[in-house]
Amino acid sequence: MADMKVMASPNHYLKNKKRPAVVNFHENSTEFVSPKKQKRNIPGIISADGSVNANRPMALIQERRKLPIFAVRSKLLEEIQKNPILIVIGETGCGKTTQIPQFIHEAKLARNSMIAITQPRRVAAVSLSKRVANEMGVSIGETVGYTIRFEDVTSPSTKLKYMTDGMLFREAMLDELLMRYSVIILDEAHERSVNTDVLFGIVKKAQKLRSENSKPPLKVIIMSATMDVDHFSKYFNNAKVLYLEGRQYPVKVLNAKQPQSDYLQSCLSTIFQIHLEEPAGDILVFLTGQDEIESMVHTVRLAGKECKNVLRVFPLYSSMPMHMMENIFRPSPPNERKVILSTNVAETSLTIPGIKYVVDSGHVKARVYQPSTGLDVLRVQKVSQEQSWQRTGRAGRESAGTCYRVFTNEQFNSLPKFTTPEILRCNLASVMLQLLHLGIDAYSFDFMDKPSQEALDAAVSQLKLLGAIESKETRKLTPLGSKMAQFPLDPRLSKILLSSKAYNCTEEILTVVSMLSAESVFINALNNRDEAIACHKKFFSSEGDHITLLNVFHAFKSFKSQKKQCSENYLNYRNLLFATEIRKQLAQICQQNDIPLSTCGQNTDMVRKCLVTGYFMNVAELQRDKKYIMVESKQRVRIHPSSVLHKTLPHYILFSEVVQTSQCYIRQLSIVDEDVLNEIASDYFRQHRLGSKD
Ligand code: CDP
Ligand code: MG
Repeated sequence: MADMKVMASPNHYLKNKKRPAVVNFHENSTEFVSPKKQKRNIPGIISADGSVNANRPMALIQERRKLPIFAVRSKLLEEIQKNPILIVIGETGCGKTTQIPQFIHEAKLARNSMIAITQPRRVAAVSLSKRVANEMGVSIGETVGYTIRFEDVTSPSTKLKYMTDGMLFREAMLDELLMRYSVIILDEAHERSVNTDVLFGIVKKAQKLRSENSKPPLKVIIMSATMDVDHFSKYFNNAKVLYLEGRQYPVKVLNAKQPQSDYLQSCLSTIFQIHLEEPAGDILVFLTGQDEIESMVHTVRLAGKECKNVLRVFPLYSSMPMHMMENIFRPSPPNERKVILSTNVAETSLTIPGIKYVVDSGHVKARVYQPSTGLDVLRVQKVSQEQSWQRTGRAGRESAGTCYRVFTNEQFNSLPKFTTPEILRCNLASVMLQLLHLGIDAYSFDFMDKPSQEALDAAVSQLKLLGAIESKETRKLTPLGSKMAQFPLDPRLSKILLSSKAYNCTEEILTVVSMLSAESVFINALNNRDEAIACHKKFFSSEGDHITLLNVFHAFKSFKSQKKQCSENYLNYRNLLFATEIRKQLAQICQQNDIPLSTCGQNTDMVRKCLVTGYFMNVAELQRDKKYIMVESKQRVRIHPSSVLHKTLPHYILFSEVVQTSQCYIRQLSIVDEDVLNEIASDYFRQHRLGSKD
């Protein structure tokens, strides 16, 4: 629901037209050819490890052998053996993520320990590990497994472990030498996610310490589609860089002739322009987030019904349920065309076969730190040129293709050349807390790109306010801070969970925190909107969204036939199951920390009070003009239309999230009393006074 435009009815775009208006593209467009264009070179016989596994599907073995990377297998292994740190750069889809770990395993370079392969995104870790398990003819969780937050599909026999970068960072908190691994592959390094950036420093240090203490060596491989090679190599002790041959066909780039006022509308028109006028080939459309994509899927399906040739529409985003992934990789039958509406996960992490046309919206959803408020804001923003080129390249994987950019060439030229690393644009409190737990001070940490003093100071302030550190100067963790670091959560949520003991509402807080950590449990049925809203209303609480989430969870638990009743009530069954799983795991950590699972029953005031212990920095106050401002920054905000408090005017509201579209919205809200704020966070509200009336 991040982008308000997409909340309009699907017919908003279709109105009375059979299909949406046409976007005019420049014809004299640039041709994109990969700088490292290489001819195919597939060797005749390639013996992997010589072992024969009857479970290995023959088709997959053949596909594997056709990958450009297979030709350089022995050279690669030789370099991996020779170099303690190796940087591997290769065109997306050439086989880095799925093949290199297998090569290392087959050549027994990992000795008897594990190979870790990190991914910035959950969906990539899961999907790629499954693919590799298939190729190796094993069940997932055996030799090949994956670990993502709240889900661990590995066993003692696991040798190839695909995991999110965040999970490896958490493992480092328990063992800074990462002794379980003999090889660590930090994949998608160009994405520069916060956790990958922190892992650069942690892994580098672990390697050094292991070598100095005569422990078994750690091999480090940094992989990427593109990167600022010199910057990386210099940071990794002048590590050797290996370029892999890619296989890239020319891609024609078409830019919109005129600036487009609505990128969704333009993408929609372009999809149908391609579908109706261009030869066979699947379409990949880059959009920004789950809600926008789901809504667009609906619109394209509706409009697609009017076409003679079948158009199959699939969403692709990071938190998507895995069972929905399978069809995406299946080739289209003749006379059918696939259109995949994806976030930037399809830029480099996942390669989908059959794509010949790419539609680039030029936008991406990013988590951006707002220094003025000290909060991370989810924002739809313009991509960088580098990102746009990556998107373009997806059209030329199997044959020549076309990329439609729904923005002008001038607009492209005004985009920033590179994407700013996330570590330079996000709230650092969580990273800092985890580093402190590892005994590392973020101020002196070996970052590839060091965050600003201002950003580090802001994180220290936040941790101090939450009571996680003793003072801003010593930055020594308090006992509370040490406990907070154990939860795989934002420090504010960890604090709330730990406070729940004092408010006797741990059961309720566990539920609220788990529901906030899972994806949305409400289904926005675009075709049955009124009915869905009527169903959802049964769970609404006048106290706000947090208590509403609690009501939904209680109802879910009481359902006799959960799947069926979820569907009847327009609730997302899988997300609720996921929340249940998260809850179970958080409950275990609570018990390890001597927090009894107490309950406040109907007295939900306690829940809202407890939320204040971590979210007191996230309070908005009503103004005379009936608008809201945030207490600390005085920035204007609005209540998100998805909130149950939308259209009500409580004086003080506490929020979990800020979303920026054309306006700044707050969502996941609870009503709070002034007295409660002053009682629970008295120091804070002495400084940031309540009751300002602009
Ligand atoms: O990591 P890199 O981008 O170099 O490539 P990869 O992820 O290892 O993928 C290698 C090839 O496997 C690609 O050409 C994909 O099309 C294919 N693949 C697939 O067909 N199905 C999957 N589920 C995963 C990969
Ligand atoms: Mg990859």
